[in-house]
Amino acid sequence: MDKHQYSFDYEVYDSISQLNEADAALLRAAQETAGIAYAPYSNFHVGAVARLANGQTVRGSNQENASYPVGLCAERVLLSAASSVYPGVAIDTIAISYNSNEVNSNRPISPCGICRQTLVEYETHLNHPIRLVLGGMKGKVFVIPKASLLLPFGFSGEDMK
Ligand code: THU
Repeated sequence: MDKHQYSFDYEVYDSISQLNEADAALLRAAQETAGIAYAPYSNFHVGAVARLANGQTVRGSNQENASYPVGLCAERVLLSAASSVYPGVAIDTIAISYNSNEVNSNRPISPCGICRQTLVEYETHLNHPIRLVLGGMKGKVFVIPKASLLLPFGFSGEDMK
């Protein structure tokens, strides 16, 4: 029997002001985009903004539904929009932020399991790592070099070949 270990490096910044200008602008856009979420059931407003390889930005926010499982996370709204408006264009970086009346937005959140699976699908499809910049409205910011690091042992199309 062999024991293996999984670990990865990511960056931790004390605040948005320590980020480079491009990442800071993307995170500010994600904070703003949280403000246009449709989240009347959870009151948890999430914004995600992508910077694409062609220089364009695309945004998404969570879209809830009275039938709760129908709701979509900001990340998947964003990925569907980016793939529809700019099909085949690689995604360099996605910033994700959130706001809520009920919890303090002072630390990063990271994508849910379904969104991790979706992020990895687009990394594979576009053959390009997706950097993640994760931060609340204030507080620390995490920079993850590629989304697939968050989904060890993930299932992919390769497994069906
Ligand atoms: N949500 C996102 O949009 N992204 C995340 O990374 C975590 C959760 C949404 C889903 C739901 O509308 C609300 O936040 C509460 O779970």
